[in-house]
Amino acid sequence: MANILIMYSTTDGHTLEICQYLKRVIERNDNRVTLHSMDNNPHVDIKSFDKIVLGASIRYGKHSKQVYQYIKRNELILDSKPNAFFSVNVVARKPGKDQPDTNPYLKKFLKQISWQPKELAVFAGKLDYPRYRFWDKQIIRFIMWMTKGPTRPDTVIDFTDWKQVESFGQLVNDM
Ligand SMILES: Cc1cc2nc3c(=O)[nH]c(=O)nc-3n(C[C@H](O)[C@H](O)[C@H](O)COP(=O)(O)O)c2cc1C
Repeated sequence: MANILIMYSTTDGHTLEICQYLKRVIERNDNRVTLHSMDNNPHVDIKSFDKIVLGASIRYGKHSKQVYQYIKRNELILDSKPNAFFSVNVVARKPGKDQPDTNPYLKKFLKQISWQPKELAVFAGKLDYPRYRFWDKQIIRFIMWMTKGPTRPDTVIDFTDWKQVESFGQLVNDM
């Protein structure tokens, strides 16, 4: 049995939902999963875990600064264990931008950090206009209009391919 830590960074909760799904997949194989947020100054003894997974969403082109800080502080320990990183963004709904080596945010992120995760994934995220603040909603609708996505202000769409999340969970089991 492996003891696995999933650290996540989320704004609207969708990355956490993906982590909860991963937890269920991984625990089916008798492993134990702990979920913890990277967002508010986390103090988790990551040395005590066998494998570590980090997951974070994109907001205005970037992962949050807490993600960069967390990786910087823990890079040596991350490197010493089986590890993985996944990114969540709506651009990944598009064929040709839905793989770690084709998703522009993940490619850019990997150039910005010195840690090189052993396993990678990118998942399409969720659009939820009714819950966004006024300006966020207008800006995301404009970006969606430019990229031929949905613009109706009442749109709520989960673009995540949950089978892909399931496969990633199996990969984490095997790594
Ligand atoms: C204010 C805001 C900015 C966003 N910026 C981007 C972006 O630049 N590129 C992108 O692909 N997705 C963007 N998204 C979509 C999010 O990545 C997507 O909704 C994701 O599911 C959010 O995950 P979270 O709930 O874990 O934060 C944005 C969403 C919001 C609300």
